[in-house]
Amino acid sequence: MPQPQVFITRRLPTDLDVLQQVATVEVWIERQPPPYKVLLEKIRTIDGLLCLLTDRIDSQLIAAATSLKVISQMAVGYDNIDIPAATARGIPVGHTPGILTDATADFTWALLMAAARRVVEADRFTRAGRWLTWEPDLLLGPNITGATLGIVGFGRIGQAIARRAKGFEMRILYASKHQWDLELEKALGVEFVPFDRLLSESDFVTIHTPLSKDTYHLFSDRQFELMKPSAILINTARGGVIDPDALYRALSQGQIAGAALDVTEPEPILMDSPLLTLDNLIMTPHIASASRQTREKMANMAIENLIAGLRGAPLPYCVNNI
Ligand code: GLV
Repeated sequence: MPQPQVFITRRLPTDLDVLQQVATVEVWIERQPPPYKVLLEKIRTIDGLLCLLTDRIDSQLIAAATSLKVISQMAVGYDNIDIPAATARGIPVGHTPGILTDATADFTWALLMAAARRVVEADRFTRAGRWLTWEPDLLLGPNITGATLGIVGFGRIGQAIARRAKGFEMRILYASKHQWDLELEKALGVEFVPFDRLLSESDFVTIHTPLSKDTYHLFSDRQFELMKPSAILINTARGGVIDPDALYRALSQGQIAGAALDVTEPEPILMDSPLLTLDNLIMTPHIASASRQTREKMANMAIENLIAGLRGAPLPYCVNNI
């Protein structure tokens, strides 16, 4: 029997030995993702696809598959994949939940603290030779300890943010599709509030909701108007949750004080985006889960899903439960 054919859309931070024992593996070795037309050509003949969030796996692509048994994404989010189209063809889609929760929550805190205490600006200031002496009012920012934190989306990552916030003695509000049980709320010291109230009462607002048609541009002009002029917004979820033009207006007109984004719409951010002219914005290149250990585990988990799918076994971490 010939081995199944697998296409991996980028080099992975793990070794492929286990996979190579059961499949013929082709890896796209460029730094940029494979163009759509390359994916379209590959998908016609492969049995398994291991992809990343930068690959658009839409219904046209899925329709072109003839022997595809599994789509395995190395990410927890999967808004780049047309799940109903995969489900309609009986193709299971795997992802990597849980394993990146702590790394993502840690990085969110790095951004929150860097934005509040102006770490990036202070570094630029120092390198520019502007550190003249100790000054009582130099580069002031708000308190973090004791502040009010608003968490939008209260899944695994939102809850991990709350666990860290407890150590900073914060008042923690959350908004979510549904209220969690009182025991969990009590253990984490969090309060469920309507979204608008969270916006108007929080000193820091952090986004942890998936991108869907319900959350697309959830943050636009009206939401920024509700926020405090001293508020700081952090996004390590998906860029599309924020309307970038409205964010520019809010940051440049002082409707909110600052933002720190690990994700943008589009990605990468265009170099002529007006957002990049602002000092009160920190921008990082979608690296929230990028601890060495986490990325290796994500790659291994994606391989585990892929191998299960090739064997026709249930995927250990399946999005569409096939
Ligand atoms: C990263 O953004 C992920 O979804 O894993």
